Amino acid sequence: MKSRKNMTGKILIVDDEKDMLTLLTRIITEKTDYEVVTSHDPLKAIEILKEQSVNLVITDLKMPRMNGIALLDQVKKIQPTAAVVVMTAYATIETAVEATRKGAFDYIAKPFRKERILLTIDNAMKWQSLTLENSALLKSLKQQKKFTSIIGSSPAITSILKKIEQVAQSSATVLICGKSGTGKELVAKAIHHHSHRNDKPFVTINCAAMPEQIIESELFGHVKGAFTGAWKDKKGLVEEANSGTLFFDEIGELSMVMQTKLLRLLQEAEYKPVGGLVTKYIDIRFLAATNQNLTKLIAEKQFREDLFYRINVINFHIPPLRDRREDIPVLAHHFLEKYTMLNKKKINRIDPEVMSVLMTQKWPGNVRELENVIERGVVFCRSDDIKLSDIFPEKPLEPVSLHFDRSIYDLPFKEAKENVIKTFHQSYILSILEQSKGNISRAAEQAGLQRQYLHRLIKEENIDVETFRDSENM
Ligand SMILES: Nc1ncnc2c1ncn2[C@@H]1O[C@H](COP(=O)(O)OP(=O)(O)OP(=O)(O)O)[C@@H](O)[C@H]1O
Ligand SMILES: [Mg+2]
Repeated sequence: MKSRKNMTGKILIVDDEKDMLTLLTRIITEKTDYEVVTSHDPLKAIEILKEQSVNLVITDLKMPRMNGIALLDQVKKIQPTAAVVVMTAYATIETAVEATRKGAFDYIAKPFRKERILLTIDNAMKWQSLTLENSALLKSLKQQKKFTSIIGSSPAITSILKKIEQVAQSSATVLICGKSGTGKELVAKAIHHHSHRNDKPFVTINCAAMPEQIIESELFGHVKGAFTGAWKDKKGLVEEANSGTLFFDEIGELSMVMQTKLLRLLQEAEYKPVGGLVTKYIDIRFLAATNQNLTKLIAEKQFREDLFYRINVINFHIPPLRDRREDIPVLAHHFLEKYTMLNKKKINRIDPEVMSVLMTQKWPGNVRELENVIERGVVFCRSDDIKLSDIFPEKPLEPVSLHFDRSIYDLPFKEAKENVIKTFHQSYILSILEQSKGNISRAAEQAGLQRQYLHRLIKEENIDVETFRDSENM
């Protein structure tokens, strides 16, 4: 069969009869391009398996030092993705069933016809390459999930990503600050996933959502009889997170009493369940997030200064979306991809008109708000690009002028002017690049600018032209 040639792979044959090894090797090398390794001793075969990776093991069932089923077990341990075919002169249903139940791909009865063994090898090799592909796919899917993607090309996001890698491996406590919807939880998860604790639990405690009366027992657990209704021992989140990461979301909402208890937990790495006498010890990485100004809360005596210093060992600040508008196109495309997949739709792009509106919004709800807007666009979209009417179906959008943050009025004139110009540059360039699909010459022509000058501005504003080009193929 011609198709058998040009296929690559390695086959290990194990049989105590040396004639059988010779015969099989001849059949295989004559008709295929597979590499063949042989061993008349199953124990030696195990050594080979430890040293070389093989695609298929063909083994005899009855051998003096170790039988084929035991060897099969070893193959599954050493090289779980290798296919195994067992051969036997004593083919009974039981042995065949046992071998396949233990993970053999197939069995062949001796004596066999040449075509029969070649066909079995073909099938086993095909199955093996599929298994391999699947496990590689699963691994890459897991990997993708693990590094929950933080999207963005702005200097702020780039430096956050770099910092995550730098600090993830340490056990230092991290405080993540940023307004609502900026991605604080995403950063916390990314730190956990890049750390050596990534196969251990990541547990979140939402300090804002938990009533004061139950937060202590939720956190530390309680013993039976500690209070009315505590009819049996209950584990707390701290114990659940042990050896992993515990994330205190909205830490600014904790009461002063709980702050004191938390400080002890952080400093001593120990706690007692509510009503318990025994001290428990923990090994936990602590992360915290807040959308409040903790310094202000400290001044107002709402937040313990010592707790602040204890959690603020490493600080992340995620700027609001309006201060990193260059992230808007990449984020918008990322969410477009996400929601077209979830909604099983085929939408290729976001209309340039939509994109320029997105670029100039104020985004008080930050990335979460942008995500919701794109999701809505995907749901309402009836063609292959998202139009303004898909995003704002009930009311036409008011024309958005370039708005500046009110905070610029607190700046000295020169600084305020630079700020405004920067925002204008970003907004304008992004809009013309969106329209020209990343074609700089065309964008320059449309704007009446020299190509080199536009190029320089793009560089200055750190805008990634590629993202506009990608959108063409999406
Ligand atoms: N840089 C980013 N890349 C991709 N998705 C992002 C990014 N930032 C935020 N998101 C998405 O936006 C949503 C809000 O993010 P997240 O929950 O992490 O924000 P948050 O700061 O914790 O908000 P809140 O203060 O309201 O709890 C999530 O769906 C998240 O996946
Ligand atoms: Mg959050």
